[in-house]
Amino acid sequence: MSVPFYITTPIYYVNARPHLGHAYTTIVADVATRYHAMRGCDTYFLTGTDEHGDKIVEAAKKENTSPRNYVDTISALFRKLWPQININYSQFIRTTDKAHITVVEQVLAKIHAAGDIYFSEYEGLYCFGCERFYTERELVDGKCPDHETAPQKIRESNYFFRMSKYQDWLIDHIHSNPGFIRPERYRNEVLAFLKEPLEDLCISRPKTRLKWGITLPFDKDYVTYVWFDALLNYASALGYPDGKAYSKYWPHVQHIVAKDILKPHGIYWPIMLKAAGMQPYRHLNVHGYWNVEQSKMSKSLGNVIDPLELKNIYGVDAFRFFLMRDMAFGLDSNFSEDALVQRINADLANDLGNLFSRVVAMTHKYCEGRVPAVDPAAEAELGLGLPEDAAEAIDAYEQAMDEFAFHKGLMAVWNLISQMNRYIDVTAPWVLAKKKSARTQLEAVLYYFLEGLRVISGLVYPVMPATAQTMQKHLGLDPEQAFFNLDGLKTWGRLEPGTSLPKAVSLFPRVDPEKHKTAAADPVKKASELPDIKPEITFETFSKIDLRVATVVRAEAIPKARKLLKLELDVGAERTIVAGIAASYQPDELVGKQIVIVANLKPAKLMGVLSNGMLLAASSGDGLALIGPDKIVKPGTPLS
Ligand code: ME8
Repeated sequence: MSVPFYITTPIYYVNARPHLGHAYTTIVADVATRYHAMRGCDTYFLTGTDEHGDKIVEAAKKENTSPRNYVDTISALFRKLWPQININYSQFIRTTDKAHITVVEQVLAKIHAAGDIYFSEYEGLYCFGCERFYTERELVDGKCPDHETAPQKIRESNYFFRMSKYQDWLIDHIHSNPGFIRPERYRNEVLAFLKEPLEDLCISRPKTRLKWGITLPFDKDYVTYVWFDALLNYASALGYPDGKAYSKYWPHVQHIVAKDILKPHGIYWPIMLKAAGMQPYRHLNVHGYWNVEQSKMSKSLGNVIDPLELKNIYGVDAFRFFLMRDMAFGLDSNFSEDALVQRINADLANDLGNLFSRVVAMTHKYCEGRVPAVDPAAEAELGLGLPEDAAEAIDAYEQAMDEFAFHKGLMAVWNLISQMNRYIDVTAPWVLAKKKSARTQLEAVLYYFLEGLRVISGLVYPVMPATAQTMQKHLGLDPEQAFFNLDGLKTWGRLEPGTSLPKAVSLFPRVDPEKHKTAAADPVKKASELPDIKPEITFETFSKIDLRVATVVRAEAIPKARKLLKLELDVGAERTIVAGIAASYQPDELVGKQIVIVANLKPAKLMGVLSNGMLLAASSGDGLALIGPDKIVKPGTPLS
């Protein structure tokens, strides 16, 4: 029977759009899931959105909309993004789902009945940004370390969860399960924190202050603290307490988070599980931050990188590969587009891409495009250590992938690729091809290289699923068959002699570092250097143009107009415009997007529809790119 594997990402706050940090964690979960499926595990992969609490109410207010409308819009952005970067989750949970709310109520009632939740008056320092109380010693210069603002002193009657009661249990549990929190630096961080006495956790918010949350089952005047609600998603998704999926997967649960939420996951969550009589998770896998110019990329700092933009320019597999290869899991990494381009050109276009196209091309040139047969005598004479190299690479890869050291797993694969490139130079098949007597040797060599590529295609599958499939198709393997399993990779000699191979493809074209840059990475050129610049205008002329931010509410195609879409906008007021963007955008992907329009342009009728304004878009050889604010602002906001 296959072993279950259950992995979760954090459920992301819906107070802003998804960025590179969210994409990284979710790609890690996808890679780990695909890798475990290759090992024959029965996998389940959960992601979703965290939708209650102050943060969300604030964000909805800024958008001039209700929390309900707001969470629906942003949650849909997350859900729609994942398939576009080849993320194949099993379930997308929302904390506003009815089934989740019921579980939160059940667990609260259980812990309350057991006496681990009590009512008390409390005066403390509260950070509204973090939605929690701070102790003096957690503050830096009297300020919240995340928001750099002074917390406010508030006095309130609230419900508290007796975390202190379980402190010793948690310390013991971490000591007796070394992989419980990993890598070790984060385990040590949690243990260091547990050296001080734990304070009980305030798990309620009075409805006089916050209504957008789950009502406590034992007091209708309070809602549940957002973390107590959110953490339970990992169990409610599986149908806790008696769902089939729960009994199957829960004992195997592993979480992935970044270090920002180590404390809720390393301390609150295991104690909540213990108090509720549930099994603790297996592993908490903690990674570092993607930084941009050495500061953490985050919504509040406004320096976010859009994963879709990168994927659209560089391709989904190259983007996934870069993230997995350039971050040592657990440590911080600095994002740079130059490093991304270098990786693509060196590792993907040169090392892997060239190896693949050379071997397939030689098979076409010397063996009529068929997998050659191997003569055992020629094989022995050749004495090429490739099968051993492949076995070693698989071992190193497995060990690294089991420990979430993805960059090391990929390094093991790239060692094998380099080795194969060396073998090609040493064996020089083009020289063997010139001698009739070396025919069997040539065939043995080419068979080895094709087999080596089969192994590589399997090993890159979790990170680059589409590339793996293309490689296997060009190695003459049936894409319908499950070749993506580790045992299959460990058996040398699976390719069938005689199989016809399709002509070679270029897996990864080289990227011209000058041409391919996201808008964010391209430094603004001086006006004097701009080609085709229009005649100068005065500021007065410019200020006559009324530019406004608009949110797309609805988008639809206009019958018989191939290029045009009709957009219903919220610009503070309702507006309809017609835009020639159908070749670059699907109506669906526009809903919820914020764009900029010229709001005082004379209306014009296009294909029978009155267009009341014009949107701004950048036009290049790759199509159109809409212009919008890099964080959500109130519809109708003027540009200045
Ligand atoms: O914390 N680098 O949601 P959130 C790497 N709702 N990863 C990053 C990152 C960065 N710069 N920025 C964000 C919450 N992340 C809660 C979680 S779980 C029960 C509740 C990723 O939207 C990383 O996984 O703030 C981090 O832990 C998570 O997004 C925080 O997402």
